[in-house]
Amino acid sequence: MKSSLATVLGTIASTLARTVTTTEPSLSDIAASAATVMPYSPVSNVEGLAFDRIFQVWFENIDYENAAADKNLQWLATQGIALTNFYALTHPSEPNYCAAAGGDTFGMDNDDFQRIPANVSTIVDILDTKYIAWGEYQEHMPYPGFQGFNYSNQETFHDDYVRKHNPLILYDSVTENTMRGRQIKNFTHFDADLANEKLPQWAFFTPNMTNDAHDTNITFAANWLRGWISPLLENEYFMNNTLILITFDEDKTYSKTNRIFSILLGGAVPENLHGTEDNTFYTHYSVIATLGLWS
Ligand SMILES: *[C@@H]1O[C@H](CO)[C@@H](O)[C@H](O)[C@H]1NC(C)=O
Ligand SMILES: *[C@@H]1O[C@H](CO)[C@@H](O)[C@H](O)[C@H]1NC(C)=O
Ligand SMILES: *[C@@H]1O[C@H](CO)[C@@H](O)[C@H](O)[C@H]1NC(C)=O
Ligand SMILES: *[C@@H]1O[C@H](CO)[C@@H](O)[C@H](O)[C@H]1NC(C)=O
Ligand SMILES: *[C@@H]1O[C@H](CO)[C@@H](O)[C@H](O)[C@H]1NC(C)=O
Ligand SMILES: *[C@@H]1O[C@H](CO)[C@@H](O)[C@H](O)[C@H]1NC(C)=O
Repeated sequence: MKSSLATVLGTIASTLARTVTTTEPSLSDIAASAATVMPYSPVSNVEGLAFDRIFQVWFENIDYENAAADKNLQWLATQGIALTNFYALTHPSEPNYCAAAGGDTFGMDNDDFQRIPANVSTIVDILDTKYIAWGEYQEHMPYPGFQGFNYSNQETFHDDYVRKHNPLILYDSVTENTMRGRQIKNFTHFDADLANEKLPQWAFFTPNMTNDAHDTNITFAANWLRGWISPLLENEYFMNNTLILITFDEDKTYSKTNRIFSILLGGAVPENLHGTEDNTFYTHYSVIATLGLWS
């Protein structure tokens, strides 16, 4: 059993090594697709044991101590539970995002253009089997299912949307299915899904390269987060038995232990636990494991 798993992983790793390339569609192709590809927003109502929805919002590259010292994150922690012993998996960014969807890094050790072969399953296969609606919200992704390497701010040409921070788009088993691609949307579509009460039960959020601290710092990102999430924490539909995980892909200082400051928020967090800490050991894989709470 062990050796056959190793063989499969070895095959995937060598396939990854071979398929490194970059795809940069032209702006006119992007505009044409943005005009025609329709977002898809399935909904479901599968009751969970501890929550009915789980939403993850990932930030970038901040050491635990620096995040824990931020005033806005400290305020957010009073609205939920601070996780003080949560670890990212590896460095750099992309293998962490990859593992959040597929349960493995497949030996990936870079931020290159990667495609994982169609015979590799992801969390979406589990969710679809359980009829649990899912989606991704990637800020400024130019259209649903966009597979390009990046989409820059077209005025400043600063990095905005990047493929390496988009877990599901890395998997051919997702992108080769048109319906699935249409569930990977931008924040404009999030606003619409929220207003139309068409949020999925599992969602992954990636703010853009400015807001997620990658090109800024924790002061900027946490201020953005507080502004973005505060109205959501007041929204009865959004909060309804929802568990929100605020976390980071990895820490900043590679010589440290990759501990990342994380917070649980949302209506699924009992009020008597607000402002408390949980020092249980968790990693990004723990989030996949919570799917067992939808039996
Ligand atoms: C999975 O697909 C890749 C790429 O097509 C192929 O090289 C590999 O042999 C397949 N692995 C298995 C276990 O079928
Ligand atoms: C979101 O995607 C749509 C296409 O589905 C596009 O028209 C819109 O401009 C995008 N929003 C942003 C802010 O990039
Ligand atoms: C992707 O990034 C490159 C390098 O910064 C830039 O030249 C290009 O315009 C970007 N592509 C898009 C679609 O924004
Ligand atoms: C990131 O998003 C914000 C809005 O949330 C926007 O003002 C900013 O221009 C975006 N950054 C880039 C580099 O496009
Ligand atoms: C982040 O950058 C801003 C503006 O450059 C600065 O005022 C602030 O002190 C920085 N925060 C940290 C934690 O370095
Ligand atoms: C919360 O969810 C329950 C169970 O699905 C539903 O009956 C109720 O109407 C929802 N409330 C709001 C405010 O969305």
